[in-house]
Amino acid sequence: MILRRFRLSDTPAYHEMMNQPAVERTLIPGPATLADSARHIAMIEGHWDLVGHSFMAVVEKSTGLLIGRVGPWQPYGWPGLEIGWTIHPRRGRRGYAVEAALAACRWTFERYPGLRQVVHTIAPTNAASQRVAKKLGSEKTTETFNLPPIGHIDIWATARSALAAR
Ligand SMILES: CC(C)(COP(=O)(O)OP(=O)(O)OC[C@H]1O[C@@H](n2cnc3c(N)ncnc32)[C@H](O)[C@@H]1OP(=O)(O)O)[C@@H](O)C(=O)NCCC(=O)NCCS
Repeated sequence: MILRRFRLSDTPAYHEMMNQPAVERTLIPGPATLADSARHIAMIEGHWDLVGHSFMAVVEKSTGLLIGRVGPWQPYGWPGLEIGWTIHPRRGRRGYAVEAALAACRWTFERYPGLRQVVHTIAPTNAASQRVAKKLGSEKTTETFNLPPIGHIDIWATARSALAAR
């Protein structure tokens, strides 16, 4: 796979991915219209300037298709430097999320040498995402994060040392 910055031309494929029922159920509020998806991409790219990192597009090397988004995320008020992940359900269960998340975690730890851990905000019902986190060496903390309208979601943490062992 290739991880790269988002482009305006990714908008239709991003919109199609984010509106898959399996994705919508876990990422609220999702982009309901194509214009919302265009704003999402603008927000993701703006996050690079504001914070110095952001989600990256996951592109399948063999097809050139946009199949996900992955990367660091920490807008104002966020409970830590998160590594988040989404893979298109049509490309699910091929190990793509774990591969992309490992690469994004390594990239982030290299970029911030003093960083001891990254976090992942995961709904208690999101078994697939919990499994991805476990495969990174992540552990559920006792902390939660209130993210309206979802409510309280769990905070998982991957220590630099745990990732280094993968
Ligand atoms: C969660 C998600 C990223 C997993 O992507 P993926 O590419 O299918 O994951 P992988 O193929 O790398 O699999 C990782 C592990 O999760 C497991 N898994 C994948 N989908 C699963 C599902 N629906 N239910 C239970 N386990 C699942 C895999 O079996 C694998 O574990 P294993 O190796 O022990 O068998 C993807 O389902 C997704 O984008 N979901 C919607 C958005 C989302 O929830 N994002 C995260 C928000 S916190």
